[in-house]
Amino acid sequence: MIQLKDLKLKTNIIQSPMAGCTDLAFRLVAREHGMEMAFMEMVSCESLIRHNRKALELMKTVESDRPLGCQLVGCRADAMGEAAAIAEGMGYDLIDINIGCPVPKITGPGGGSALLKEPDAARAIFKAMQKNIKRIPFTAKMRLGFADPSGDEAIRMAQIAEEEGLAAVSVHGRTREQAYTGKANWDAIGRVKRAVKIPVFGNGDVNSGEDAQRMLDITGCDGVMLGRGALGNPWIYRSVQAVLDGRPAPVEPTLEERKKAFLQHAELEIKNEGPYLGVLKCRKIACWYFKGFPGAADLRARVNQVETPDQLIETISRFNNYNFPDSQES
Ligand SMILES: Cc1cc2nc3c(=O)[nH]c(=O)nc-3n(C[C@H](O)[C@H](O)[C@H](O)COP(=O)(O)O)c2cc1C
Repeated sequence: MIQLKDLKLKTNIIQSPMAGCTDLAFRLVAREHGMEMAFMEMVSCESLIRHNRKALELMKTVESDRPLGCQLVGCRADAMGEAAAIAEGMGYDLIDINIGCPVPKITGPGGGSALLKEPDAARAIFKAMQKNIKRIPFTAKMRLGFADPSGDEAIRMAQIAEEEGLAAVSVHGRTREQAYTGKANWDAIGRVKRAVKIPVFGNGDVNSGEDAQRMLDITGCDGVMLGRGALGNPWIYRSVQAVLDGRPAPVEPTLEERKKAFLQHAELEIKNEGPYLGVLKCRKIACWYFKGFPGAADLRARVNQVETPDQLIETISRFNNYNFPDSQES
């Protein structure tokens, strides 16, 4: 159990926000498989305060999609404060600030991971948001540093977060310069954990229960934040939980179970996005579910050709024993 303000979580395994990935369809499938706390995709505070249609679409949720955190990204303290008030009013369970995004469009004006170099600006943003968040927990998700891999920048940021009354932080063990390359530095995450008293979630390269246990052992963190390991793999939550509880990990899903979960994800995606955009999104999502399995390259090539929901369903249904009946290898 872990408690952040009044938010009580049964498990210390949480799902990270991932733009373009952790949308409503992803979350509903993940929740059926044991995910508890999730985040939506990051939302720009500037878009939210203008009630931009795309921002509001990203924030779509339903009653069963709880507990859910809203992650805001931006660099202007007053806009971040205003966005935090709007987000709390929309009923989310937690508000998080993004201090990790590496994309130049975000870092250029001073948001995302650029805040790691500007502790005073970050403090002003924390204050503006904290003032406007009345009931729910407020947290920060950060990288280790902008370019400095030591963890010193994240330590400073976590300490400021603690001083400003944030409920917890999560730390991705890579710098902005590393983007997604190399290995997450769990030792440096451990330095951040030891520098503050608020709960710290460790993030980066946790793809199994064994990884989660090692990350917790090395860092001493209070919880684990899963990222890419959950893409096309909603079974990860129960298998991580089992290992952390000292139980044997559940058996791997069969191909039929993978197909079923993918088709459920696809159906939700098409319902939410409409047939055109939904099918486009599903091309990418199919790759997640079958990545690394025999026949995955053939499957990817075929899925990339599909244009309608019916074609998509037919293609996946015909993929049996990791093969297509009409493929040259069969
Ligand atoms: C496609 C993609 C989108 C992401 N979007 C966000 C985001 O919106 N907000 C955020 O804080 N982190 C974002 N991240 C970072 C992840 O949440 C996570 O910190 C990172 O992938 C490291 O964890 P992992 O090694 O377990 O994947 C994103 C990562 C990826 C790959």
